[in-house]
Amino acid sequence: MESKSLNQGQQFSFRELVKQILRNLGLEQVARKLRESLLGGTQSSGKSLGLSDHLSVYLQSTSLREHESLAQLRQETEQHPFGIMQTPPEEGQFIALLIQLIGAKKTLEVGVFTGYSTLAVALALPPDGKIIACDISEEDTAIARRYWQKAGVAHKIDLHLAPALSTLDRLLAEGSANTFDFAFIDADKQNYDNYYERLLQLVRPGGLIAIDNVLWAGRVADPANQEAETTAIRSLNQKIHHDSRVVISLLPIADGLTLAMKKT
Ligand SMILES: C[S@@+](CC[C@H](N)C(=O)[O-])C[C@H]1O[C@@H](n2cnc3c(N)ncnc32)[C@H](O)[C@@H]1O
Repeated sequence: MESKSLNQGQQFSFRELVKQILRNLGLEQVARKLRESLLGGTQSSGKSLGLSDHLSVYLQSTSLREHESLAQLRQETEQHPFGIMQTPPEEGQFIALLIQLIGAKKTLEVGVFTGYSTLAVALALPPDGKIIACDISEEDTAIARRYWQKAGVAHKIDLHLAPALSTLDRLLAEGSANTFDFAFIDADKQNYDNYYERLLQLVRPGGLIAIDNVLWAGRVADPANQEAETTAIRSLNQKIHHDSRVVISLLPIADGLTLAMKKT
């Protein structure tokens, strides 16, 4: 759906234009199916990769402690033509646990969409905690803002509507290196390595970077798959495997989540 030859701003306009056309033609359901098939048959919205529907229902029914606003946001986002992009609830809850475990106060998120993971983090942060949230979609983040307000955490979230790379570079230029406790990468896959390198500078020693979709519905393990997004994730996975700057774990939760702690 996105062309490699377009710059990030143009990609945004093109995507929004396509969405608008589909909406006008009443083809949102077709778009949703297309997106699902592009993301692979094993990954469906709202559950972890490889779990049967039955086991996923069991996992969620016996472990989710979802805040009312998160549950409502998830329900609304399920109707969105690209709702499959939303972070599954067990992953949101896991990230919230990490936030509390490491006592994070200053965090960063690349890829907000309708705001589920941002809200999960904001609810887990202490009252003086902050999130810099990066996205390029005014329309999708308008939904996010509504739920952040509703949950009473909007004051913790500073939304930057611009290509995330520019925001990260500006933060570095302003002297914010080594100041973030936690960062979550969940946006355009072809920039994953760029985000990783910037965030390695921005998080403090001992700080944590979480990278989503690293199993990419299994396609990273299929050598025949040479799509640009797959090869970008595959090469970052290989790089991180041997990166002595971080301590790592790749978890098979959601669509695969790598945790990389910057060494002290
Ligand atoms: C998978 S979704 C994020 C899901 C979100 N974490 C959640 O919990 O629902 C990816 C998001 O990345 C955004 N995005 C794509 N390219 C971007 C870029 N260059 N800079 C910032 N955000 C971008 C998209 O607009 C989209 O909202």
